[in-house]
Amino acid sequence: MSVVPNTGNGKVTVPELLQRKSLAADSSKKIVCLTAYDYPTARLADEAGVDVILVGDSLGMVVLGYDSTLPVTLDEMLHHTRAVRRGTRRALLVADMPYGSYHTETAESLRNAVRFVKEAGAEAVKVEGGERRLELIARLTEAEIPVMGHVGLTPQSVNALGGYRVQGKTANAAEQLLRDARAVEAAGAFAVVLEAVPRELAAQITRDLRIPTIGIGAGPDCDGQILVIHDLLGLTFSQTPKFARQYANAGEMITNAVREYCQDVRSGGFPSDAESYHAPQTIKERKTIPIAS
Ligand code: KIV
Repeated sequence: MSVVPNTGNGKVTVPELLQRKSLAADSSKKIVCLTAYDYPTARLADEAGVDVILVGDSLGMVVLGYDSTLPVTLDEMLHHTRAVRRGTRRALLVADMPYGSYHTETAESLRNAVRFVKEAGAEAVKVEGGERRLELIARLTEAEIPVMGHVGLTPQSVNALGGYRVQGKTANAAEQLLRDARAVEAAGAFAVVLEAVPRELAAQITRDLRIPTIGIGAGPDCDGQILVIHDLLGLTFSQTPKFARQYANAGEMITNAVREYCQDVRSGGFPSDAESYHAPQTIKERKTIPIAS
């Protein structure tokens, strides 16, 4: 890879994130995570100071226009991870393993995970699921690939879950979620995403685990937070969940800029003379430009 992260220069690393767990009482030490899918947004997010950049398979919905994450392919994820790698220096770069890339044999899942590290420069991978991923997470960790777990609402399970719903709302479901989070930790993951989980349950899991919890729709007591960058920027077309705080209205900004451009071209106001190249004086004096036939 052309960009090789160095440690000791502010670069965020897996051991450093693990240490932050013990500093969780200090909110300035919370782990700030954000998704990115291309070079410019990765570069802007990295330079703005996020700790972890996730090339999420949410890519399928917010960038590629699919209506779930299920169609996203391994090649699409690798392509976007490479672009994000080129824009990321300080943040830890985590790549989502897409649906189907870790659901068959462990050996094949391991080969796919290795591709993220070797071919795309990812420093860790994320996989969805709790107890049923124990063996896989242990195998990836053993192969020196740091793993971020993801439990609660796992979008790749949308068909099994019957929709995108808050998880862990009954006593049984809450117990299962705690078991899932513990399994992810026991298998060797360095962090776990808790998605769409009641705040109280997320707080309990956060107290229970030694690894950091990263919340999305899981309340403020997690060790870190993650958002999808298109939600944060106001660049989505469907209704966003209530946890997705919008910090800008990039959609409106883009529409206005493009409308103005259309008007300027149609009114003859673009390009101006100053925005045009000019022939040298000697050629201008001849009135017509000689064109070789
Ligand atoms: O795909 C994604 O962007 C994610 C985050 C929302 C956690 O999994």
